[in-house]
Amino acid sequence: MKTSLQLPSLPSAIPNKEITVPSPSVACATGSVLSQRNMHDVDKIFDELTEQFHFAVPELLGTTRDSRRIKLKLELLGSKGGRFVDYDQDYLAFNQAFFFKNLYKCLLALENTRKCSLLKACPAGLPVLDIGSGAGTFSIAWSAIMRSYTPTIELFDNCFSQLTLAARIFSVLDAKKIYYRCEAVSPRQDYSRGLRLISYWFCEQDDHALWSHIATKNGFLGDCAIVIDYPNVIERIISSLCRCFHTASFSFEAELVRRHRLIINEDIIRVHVVLLKRK
Ligand SMILES: C[S@@+](CC[C@H](N)C(=O)[O-])C[C@H]1O[C@@H](n2cnc3c(N)ncnc32)[C@H](O)[C@@H]1O
Repeated sequence: MKTSLQLPSLPSAIPNKEITVPSPSVACATGSVLSQRNMHDVDKIFDELTEQFHFAVPELLGTTRDSRRIKLKLELLGSKGGRFVDYDQDYLAFNQAFFFKNLYKCLLALENTRKCSLLKACPAGLPVLDIGSGAGTFSIAWSAIMRSYTPTIELFDNCFSQLTLAARIFSVLDAKKIYYRCEAVSPRQDYSRGLRLISYWFCEQDDHALWSHIATKNGFLGDCAIVIDYPNVIERIISSLCRCFHTASFSFEAELVRRHRLIINEDIIRVHVVLLKRK
Protein backbone atom coordinates (compact mmCIF):
# COMPACT_ATOMS: atom_id res chain seq x y z
CA MET A 1 0.00 0.00 0.00
CA LYS A 2 1.46 3.39 -0.89
CA THR A 3 0.45 6.99 -0.76
CA SER A 4 2.36 10.21 -0.96
CA LEU A 5 3.13 13.19 1.21
CA GLN A 6 4.71 16.62 0.61
CA LEU A 7 7.56 17.27 3.03
CA PRO A 8 10.22 19.97 3.03
CA SER A 9 13.87 19.89 4.42
CA LEU A 10 14.98 20.57 8.01
CA PRO A 11 15.58 24.27 8.64
CA SER A 12 19.30 24.93 8.09
CA ALA A 13 19.94 27.31 10.98
CA ILE A 14 18.34 26.21 14.20
CA PRO A 15 19.06 28.05 17.43
CA ASN A 16 20.27 26.14 20.45
CA LYS A 17 17.84 27.15 23.11
CA GLU A 18 14.14 26.57 22.85
CA ILE A 19 10.93 27.27 24.73
CA THR A 20 11.82 30.24 26.84
CA VAL A 21 9.32 32.93 25.86
CA PRO A 22 6.86 33.54 28.71
CA SER A 23 3.16 33.03 28.27
CA PRO A 24 0.60 33.34 31.04
CA SER A 25 -1.51 30.38 30.01
CA VAL A 26 0.92 27.75 28.78
CA ALA A 27 3.49 26.34 31.13
CA CYS A 28 6.16 23.75 30.58
CA ALA A 29 6.34 21.24 33.41
CA THR A 30 10.14 21.43 33.46
CA GLY A 31 9.98 25.06 34.49
CA SER A 32 10.32 26.67 31.08
CA VAL A 33 7.28 28.11 29.35
CA LEU A 34 5.89 27.86 25.86
CA SER A 35 5.50 30.97 23.75
CA GLN A 36 2.17 32.27 22.49
CA ARG A 37 3.51 31.80 18.99
CA ASN A 38 4.18 28.09 19.55
CA MET A 39 0.66 27.67 20.83
CA HIS A 40 -0.85 29.70 18.04
CA ASP A 41 0.93 27.54 15.45
CA VAL A 42 -0.05 24.29 17.13
CA ASP A 43 -3.69 25.36 17.38
CA LYS A 44 -3.74 26.56 13.78
CA ILE A 45 -2.27 23.33 12.43
CA PHE A 46 -4.61 21.27 14.61
CA ASP A 47 -7.58 23.25 13.21
CA GLU A 48 -6.46 22.67 9.63
CA LEU A 49 -5.98 18.95 10.19
CA THR A 50 -9.20 18.34 12.10
CA GLU A 51 -11.20 20.16 9.47
CA GLN A 52 -9.97 17.67 6.89
CA PHE A 53 -10.54 14.70 9.18
CA HIS A 54 -14.17 15.73 9.80
CA PHE A 55 -14.91 14.61 6.24
CA ALA A 56 -12.36 11.84 5.77
CA VAL A 57 -12.84 9.94 9.04
CA PRO A 58 -16.01 11.23 10.74
CA GLU A 59 -16.18 8.08 12.88
CA LEU A 60 -13.12 9.28 14.83
CA LEU A 61 -15.10 12.16 16.29
CA GLY A 62 -17.28 11.58 19.29
CA THR A 63 -17.13 9.00 22.04
CA THR A 64 -18.67 5.56 22.46
CA ARG A 65 -18.97 3.16 25.38
CA ASP A 66 -15.95 1.26 24.09
CA SER A 67 -13.83 4.38 23.67
CA ARG A 68 -14.66 5.48 27.22
CA ARG A 69 -13.77 1.99 28.50
CA ILE A 70 -10.40 2.03 26.73
CA LYS A 71 -9.61 5.56 27.82
CA LEU A 72 -10.30 4.71 31.44
CA LYS A 73 -8.26 1.53 31.23
CA LEU A 74 -5.20 3.19 29.68
CA GLU A 75 -5.36 6.16 32.03
CA LEU A 76 -5.28 3.73 34.95
CA LEU A 77 -2.78 1.20 33.61
CA GLY A 78 -0.96 2.66 30.60
CA SER A 79 2.13 3.88 32.43
CA LYS A 80 2.60 0.50 34.15
CA GLY A 81 3.80 -1.03 30.89
CA GLY A 82 2.35 -3.83 28.78
CA ARG A 83 -0.45 -4.20 26.27
CA PHE A 84 -3.93 -3.41 27.46
CA VAL A 85 -5.67 -2.95 24.11
CA ASP A 86 -6.52 -5.57 21.50
CA TYR A 87 -5.99 -3.26 18.55
CA ASP A 88 -7.40 -5.71 16.00
CA GLN A 89 -10.69 -5.60 17.81
CA ASP A 90 -10.64 -2.12 19.35
CA TYR A 91 -8.61 0.03 16.94
CA LEU A 92 -11.57 2.34 16.30
CA ALA A 93 -12.44 2.77 19.98
CA PHE A 94 -8.75 3.40 20.75
CA ASN A 95 -8.59 6.10 18.09
CA GLN A 96 -11.86 7.67 19.19
CA ALA A 97 -10.30 7.98 22.64
CA PHE A 98 -6.74 8.91 21.68
CA PHE A 99 -6.21 9.88 18.05
CA PHE A 100 -6.84 13.62 18.46
CA LYS A 101 -5.30 13.74 21.92
CA ASN A 102 -2.10 12.07 20.73
CA LEU A 103 -2.05 14.15 17.55
CA TYR A 104 -2.17 17.31 19.65
CA LYS A 105 0.62 15.97 21.90
CA CYS A 106 2.81 15.20 18.88
CA LEU A 107 2.20 18.69 17.43
CA LEU A 108 2.98 20.30 20.79
CA ALA A 109 6.16 18.26 21.24
CA LEU A 110 7.45 18.79 17.69
CA GLU A 111 6.65 22.48 17.44
CA ASN A 112 8.55 23.09 20.66
CA THR A 113 11.56 20.85 20.09
CA ARG A 114 12.16 21.21 16.35
CA LYS A 115 14.73 23.93 16.91
CA CYS A 116 16.65 21.91 19.48
CA SER A 117 20.34 21.51 18.73
CA LEU A 118 20.05 17.71 18.93
CA LEU A 119 17.66 17.69 15.98
CA LYS A 120 19.75 20.26 14.18
CA ALA A 121 22.66 17.84 14.41
CA CYS A 122 20.72 15.17 12.47
CA PRO A 123 21.50 15.23 8.75
CA ALA A 124 18.63 16.66 6.68
CA GLY A 125 16.58 14.31 4.54
CA LEU A 126 17.03 11.13 6.60
CA PRO A 127 14.25 8.59 6.03
CA VAL A 128 11.68 8.62 8.82
CA LEU A 129 10.33 5.46 10.48
CA ASP A 130 7.24 5.78 12.68
CA ILE A 131 7.44 2.83 15.07
CA GLY A 132 4.08 1.61 16.41
CA SER A 133 2.49 4.27 14.27
CA GLY A 134 -1.12 3.37 14.99
CA ALA A 135 -3.27 5.57 12.77
CA GLY A 136 -0.25 7.79 12.04
CA THR A 137 -0.54 10.55 14.64
CA PHE A 138 3.22 11.23 14.89
CA SER A 139 3.81 11.11 11.12
CA ILE A 140 0.87 13.43 10.49
CA ALA A 141 2.24 15.91 13.03
CA TRP A 142 5.74 15.58 11.57
CA SER A 143 4.47 16.24 8.04
CA ALA A 144 2.53 19.28 9.20
CA ILE A 145 5.32 20.82 11.29
CA MET A 146 8.52 19.90 9.45
CA ARG A 147 7.38 21.41 6.20
CA SER A 148 10.87 21.79 4.81
CA TYR A 149 11.88 18.16 5.30
CA THR A 150 11.47 15.72 2.39
CA PRO A 151 12.15 12.14 3.41
CA THR A 152 10.12 9.04 2.92
CA ILE A 153 8.02 8.10 5.92
CA GLU A 154 7.45 4.45 6.78
CA LEU A 155 4.70 3.57 9.22
CA PHE A 156 5.34 0.33 11.14
CA ASP A 157 2.57 -1.37 13.07
CA ASN A 158 1.54 -4.98 13.55
CA CYS A 159 -2.16 -4.10 13.42
CA PHE A 160 -3.49 -4.05 9.88
CA SER A 161 -6.62 -2.07 10.86
CA GLN A 162 -4.49 0.69 12.36
CA LEU A 163 -2.48 0.99 9.16
CA THR A 164 -5.60 0.89 6.98
CA LEU A 165 -6.98 3.79 8.98
CA ALA A 166 -3.66 5.61 8.65
CA ALA A 167 -3.78 5.19 4.87
CA ARG A 168 -7.31 6.60 4.75
CA ILE A 169 -6.23 9.60 6.80
CA PHE A 170 -3.09 10.25 4.75
CA SER A 171 -5.10 10.01 1.53
CA VAL A 172 -6.80 13.34 2.33
CA LEU A 173 -3.55 15.10 3.24
CA ASP A 174 -1.19 16.65 0.77
CA ALA A 175 1.23 13.81 1.33
CA LYS A 176 3.87 11.95 -0.65
CA LYS A 177 6.15 8.99 -0.13
CA ILE A 178 4.34 7.24 2.73
CA TYR A 179 4.84 3.49 3.09
CA TYR A 180 2.99 1.11 5.38
CA ARG A 181 4.59 -1.95 6.93
CA CYS A 182 2.38 -4.35 8.78
CA GLU A 183 4.86 -6.23 10.93
CA ALA A 184 5.83 -6.79 14.55
CA VAL A 185 8.68 -4.45 15.39
CA SER A 186 11.40 -5.60 17.73
CA PRO A 187 14.46 -3.73 18.97
CA ARG A 188 16.38 -6.86 17.96
CA GLN A 189 15.84 -5.81 14.36
CA ASP A 190 18.37 -3.51 12.83
CA TYR A 191 16.43 -1.15 10.62
CA SER A 192 17.95 1.28 8.16
CA ARG A 193 19.61 4.53 9.19
CA GLY A 194 17.34 7.48 9.70
CA LEU A 195 15.09 9.22 12.11
CA ARG A 196 12.56 7.47 14.35
CA LEU A 197 9.24 8.82 15.54
CA ILE A 198 7.98 6.72 18.45
CA SER A 199 4.89 7.62 20.45
CA TYR A 200 3.48 5.32 23.11
CA TRP A 201 5.18 2.27 21.68
CA PHE A 202 7.85 1.75 24.36
CA CYS A 203 5.22 1.62 27.12
CA GLU A 204 3.68 -1.45 25.47
CA GLN A 205 6.96 -3.40 25.37
CA ASP A 206 7.24 -5.41 28.56
CA ASP A 207 10.36 -7.41 27.74
CA HIS A 208 13.01 -5.75 29.88
CA ALA A 209 15.85 -7.55 28.10
CA LEU A 210 14.97 -5.54 25.02
CA TRP A 211 15.92 -2.31 26.72
CA SER A 212 19.52 -3.29 27.27
CA HIS A 213 19.55 -4.69 23.75
CA ILE A 214 18.54 -1.31 22.39
CA ALA A 215 21.24 0.33 24.49
CA THR A 216 24.03 -1.85 23.19
CA LYS A 217 22.95 -2.89 19.67
CA ASN A 218 21.28 0.31 18.81
CA GLY A 219 20.69 0.12 15.03
CA PHE A 220 17.03 -0.10 15.92
CA LEU A 221 16.92 3.56 16.85
CA GLY A 222 18.70 4.81 13.74
CA ASP A 223 20.62 8.09 13.86
CA CYS A 224 18.11 10.06 15.90
CA ALA A 225 14.78 9.44 17.53
CA ILE A 226 11.98 11.50 18.99
CA VAL A 227 10.13 9.55 21.65
CA ILE A 228 6.88 10.52 23.33
CA ASP A 229 5.78 8.41 26.27
CA TYR A 230 4.91 8.36 29.96
CA PRO A 231 7.47 10.08 32.26
CA ASN A 232 8.60 6.80 33.89
CA VAL A 233 9.20 5.27 30.44
CA ILE A 234 11.16 8.33 29.31
CA GLU A 235 13.32 8.02 32.43
CA ARG A 236 14.08 4.37 31.63
CA ILE A 237 14.93 5.25 28.05
CA ILE A 238 17.37 7.92 29.20
CA SER A 239 19.05 5.69 31.75
CA SER A 240 19.37 2.81 29.25
CA LEU A 241 20.56 4.87 26.34
CA CYS A 242 22.57 7.80 27.64
CA ARG A 243 25.88 6.02 27.04
CA CYS A 244 25.12 5.53 23.34
CA PHE A 245 22.98 8.60 22.63
CA HIS A 246 22.92 12.28 23.47
CA THR A 247 19.56 12.88 25.10
CA ALA A 248 17.39 15.92 25.79
CA SER A 249 14.04 15.57 27.49
CA PHE A 250 11.17 18.02 27.83
CA SER A 251 7.70 18.16 29.30
CA PHE A 252 5.08 20.54 27.99
CA GLU A 253 1.63 21.44 29.21
CA ALA A 254 -1.01 23.38 27.31
CA GLU A 255 -4.46 24.56 28.24
CA LEU A 256 -6.80 23.81 25.37
CA VAL A 257 -9.09 26.35 23.76
CA ARG A 258 -12.78 25.45 23.99
CA ARG A 259 -13.19 24.12 20.45
CA HIS A 260 -10.28 21.72 20.99
CA ARG A 261 -11.61 20.60 24.35
CA LEU A 262 -14.74 19.46 22.59
CA ILE A 263 -12.75 17.31 20.16
CA ILE A 264 -10.13 15.97 22.58
CA ASN A 265 -12.31 15.71 25.69
CA GLU A 266 -9.59 17.17 27.91
CA ASP A 267 -8.96 20.64 29.33
CA ILE A 268 -5.20 20.32 29.56
CA ILE A 269 -2.68 18.42 27.48
CA ARG A 270 0.64 17.25 28.89
CA VAL A 271 3.35 15.64 26.83
CA HIS A 272 6.73 14.17 27.74
CA VAL A 273 9.34 13.82 25.04
CA VAL A 274 12.97 12.76 24.71
CA LEU A 275 15.21 13.51 21.75
CA LEU A 276 17.97 10.98 21.07
CA LYS A 277 20.98 11.54 18.84
CA ARG A 278 23.54 8.79 18.33
CA LYS A 279 26.97 9.70 19.79
C1 LIG B 1 -0.57 3.09 22.10
S1 LIG B 1 -0.63 2.82 20.38
C2 LIG B 1 0.17 4.30 19.82
C3 LIG B 1 -0.23 4.67 18.42
C4 LIG B 1 0.35 6.00 17.95
N1 LIG B 1 1.79 5.98 17.89
C5 LIG B 1 -0.14 7.12 18.84
O1 LIG B 1 0.68 7.72 19.54
O2 LIG B 1 -1.34 7.38 18.85
C6 LIG B 1 0.63 1.62 20.13
C7 LIG B 1 0.66 1.07 18.72
O3 LIG B 1 1.85 0.29 18.60
C8 LIG B 1 1.53 -0.93 17.96
N2 LIG B 1 2.50 -1.89 18.48
C9 LIG B 1 2.74 -2.24 19.77
N3 LIG B 1 3.74 -3.13 19.85
C10 LIG B 1 4.14 -3.36 18.58
C11 LIG B 1 5.16 -4.17 17.99
N4 LIG B 1 5.96 -4.91 18.74
N5 LIG B 1 5.30 -4.13 16.64
C12 LIG B 1 4.50 -3.37 15.87
N6 LIG B 1 3.52 -2.58 16.36
C13 LIG B 1 3.35 -2.56 17.70
C14 LIG B 1 0.09 -1.22 18.34
O4 LIG B 1 -0.52 -2.06 17.38
C15 LIG B 1 -0.51 0.17 18.37
O5 LIG B 1 -1.05 0.55 17.14
